Amino acid sequence: MAEALPIVRAKGITKTFSGVTVLQNVDFDICPGEVHGLIGENGAGKSTLVKIISGVYTPANGDIFINDHPVYFKNPHMAREAGIALIHQEPLTFQDLNVTENLYLGHTRGKGNPLIRWKELYRKTDELLETLDVRMRSRDPVRGMTIADQQMIEIACALSQNAQVIIMDEPTAALSHGEVKTLFEMIHRLKKQGKAIVFIGHRLDEIIEICDRITVLRDGKLVGECQKNDVDQDKLVHLMINRTFEELIVKETVPIGDVMLETKRLTYPGQYYDISLKVRRGEIVGMAGLVGAGRSEAASAIFGTCPALSGEIMVKGEKVHIKNPLAAMKKGIAMVSEDRARTGLITPFSIKYNMTFAILYRIASKFGFIRNKKEDEFVNKYIVYLNVRMRDTDQPVRELSGGNQQKVVIAKWLLTESDILILDEPTRGIDIGAKAEVYKLINELAKQGKAILMISSELPEILQLSDRVYVMCEGHITAEYNRDELDSKKIMTAASTVHERRAVNE
Ligand SMILES: Nc1ncnc2c1ncn2[C@@H]1O[C@H](COP(=O)(O)OP(=O)(O)O)[C@@H](O)[C@H]1O
Ligand SMILES: [Mg+2]
Repeated sequence: MAEALPIVRAKGITKTFSGVTVLQNVDFDICPGEVHGLIGENGAGKSTLVKIISGVYTPANGDIFINDHPVYFKNPHMAREAGIALIHQEPLTFQDLNVTENLYLGHTRGKGNPLIRWKELYRKTDELLETLDVRMRSRDPVRGMTIADQQMIEIACALSQNAQVIIMDEPTAALSHGEVKTLFEMIHRLKKQGKAIVFIGHRLDEIIEICDRITVLRDGKLVGECQKNDVDQDKLVHLMINRTFEELIVKETVPIGDVMLETKRLTYPGQYYDISLKVRRGEIVGMAGLVGAGRSEAASAIFGTCPALSGEIMVKGEKVHIKNPLAAMKKGIAMVSEDRARTGLITPFSIKYNMTFAILYRIASKFGFIRNKKEDEFVNKYIVYLNVRMRDTDQPVRELSGGNQQKVVIAKWLLTESDILILDEPTRGIDIGAKAEVYKLINELAKQGKAILMISSELPEILQLSDRVYVMCEGHITAEYNRDELDSKKIMTAASTVHERRAVNE
């Protein structure tokens, strides 16, 4: 790629909040036609840096140049005028207005032009939406739109103001898989149009996929700037936390007891075949494999979301018939699902509601009313235990970061006090710090004697935490290893070869 000159250059930026230095002498530049990733642990200073660049904060020290001219932004409006737009994680749209009204609200205000030619604005909006290839139309009401669509409105708004630099602060935190894909397509289009994009995120795979260049902050300092081509997740993690990912996952040894969960030849043709596995009290059993190997499907048979067509499930040695999740819950099985936005949480609802709906029967009084005090007691206990960072328990879950959302899902199931826990990709999409907390929690659950079946596509997780591992490939269990036999090569091989299964099943 031809070296483009930076459109924005921030030099030696330092920022303090009431005496505490949160950014120290940070250089950061943004080039046209480039996606520049900005990563770092929670509190590393990412948001503060982009807020300085977009005029929300003024730096204590340091300079900002646009096309080599020094600029001094006193407010976000000045930065907007200079072509810099910050897209908020929680879009600042007006629910009672339609798309066009939201788009032009910022323009018409204070320009001394009371005559708004609506017809023209609607036409312009539709044109813009078309070039962006988004499916909404100019007259659509914003109320009821997803966060993803509202983000699109913010992006469209920035473009309608001729923004050259578009900064996205954790835009994917509240998005589903499909929505992330749509956003990435949008980013590609913006890039092609020569826009400069800053992308803050936590999912390193996403970052590596979408960014051309990646800057890493740690404790307010710049610790690395990498080109897409010579970087991998391990290197980024190391830069972010100054430790390897493995060093972050500590396994605690706990006594392993009786078999709590056993399946015999669970089969659902086309999805999984002959799944026979055991999970014991205090044991963490890893389920490794590639995405699509059938692990989640097999797990959803155990939890009753989609029962197997043949095979048996035994809980504590007793054969059970699990037709639906309620039946599973009654047998003491809980599941933290892979896609928390879709199946784990009702994100517009409060933290409190999400945490307690699985146990309403325990906190409801005789007449079916929810006993508020009891509810608060339960919720507060686990909020503290899990270190959920939030404003208060009435806050909608969608406003939390991914890591904290995941903690709410886990809390929900902890509250059920089930003996058997199925965790499907428990740390997917959350930052390193939150991952470490989830690992601690998984250890803690094992210590309490729970039987844990952990599906994970992250090998370090499987290798460090599991007492035993099953590997699946194309719907079959292709290998089983004890902790002392574990190594990543063996797992990778078993995850990509089906014919080994006979050796295991026979
Ligand atoms: N308005 C503020 N007042 C005081 N401290 C703040 C403010 N904004 C951020 N901080 C602190 O600055 C540090 C960096 O925060 P932030 O830039 O939000 O980090 P990141 O976005 O990387 O998670 C944190 O320790 C945070 O608590
Ligand atoms: Mg931030």
